[in-house]
Amino acid sequence: MSTQRNGSPLPLDGPVPNHVAIIMDGNGRWACDRDLPRHAGHREGMKAVREAIESALEAGVGILTLFAFSTENWNRPEEEILALMSLLKLYAESEREELMDQGIEVRILGDLSRVDAGTRMAVEEIEAATRGGQAMRLNLMISYSGRAEILKVVRGVAQQVSEGTLRPEEIDDATVEAHLHTRGLPDPDLLIRTSGEFRLSNFMLWQLAYTEIHISGVLWPDFSRREFMAAVEDYQRRERRFGRVPTG
Ligand code: FPP
Repeated sequence: MSTQRNGSPLPLDGPVPNHVAIIMDGNGRWACDRDLPRHAGHREGMKAVREAIESALEAGVGILTLFAFSTENWNRPEEEILALMSLLKLYAESEREELMDQGIEVRILGDLSRVDAGTRMAVEEIEAATRGGQAMRLNLMISYSGRAEILKVVRGVAQQVSEGTLRPEEIDDATVEAHLHTRGLPDPDLLIRTSGEFRLSNFMLWQLAYTEIHISGVLWPDFSRREFMAAVEDYQRRERRFGRVPTG
């Protein structure tokens, strides 16, 4: 163990995952346990987002991807959708300065055509303000689902084929990756899901093919540095083979 902060060791004895993705689950249950409305859980979840960002920076992660609102979440009650959208707007406005100062480049990935104009403007502003940040890349997945993304890829590739700029036999992994929201980025090395659920929930279906998965039992609002570092330590114990035989 090399570095200490707050008295607890930083797990740097093994490789640090370059790209960490998180399914932030359990806000509703956290609120329900306290007889609070669901949006109170989402608001508390925003604090855990800061905790995750600080922890990722501390560990030396290069890319942090957070699943903040899925395509399926549009089917939630209108009141909850409005609360989540206004929280996203608040987040983009209130965290902009700090993320900029920390050198974090923020990108919002997903189908933003369904997001209201005010929220869209706030997220465009945070993207513009943080562009070029070198310390870490933060992807916020909004109005996103893995299947919708794959459909987008299929449509884009079909378009190229119908225009005659691409032959079907030329289609390969790189062709698909060029149409993903995450184009240009490496796949996640580590996926963390909170609230003890063992599901992908339509998240990054292409990109997670060889990602190591860590399930944390805590509900998202309770997620802290301790859980983040535990996930990194768990990752460091894994042997990644990518379908090959063990080395050495
Ligand atoms: C899943 O919990 C969480 C969400 C649908 C929203 C995630 C949003 C945040 C963490 C806060 C805002 C984040 C940003 C980046 C502004 P759930 O509601 O499905 O919980 P449940 O499974 O207990 O019902």
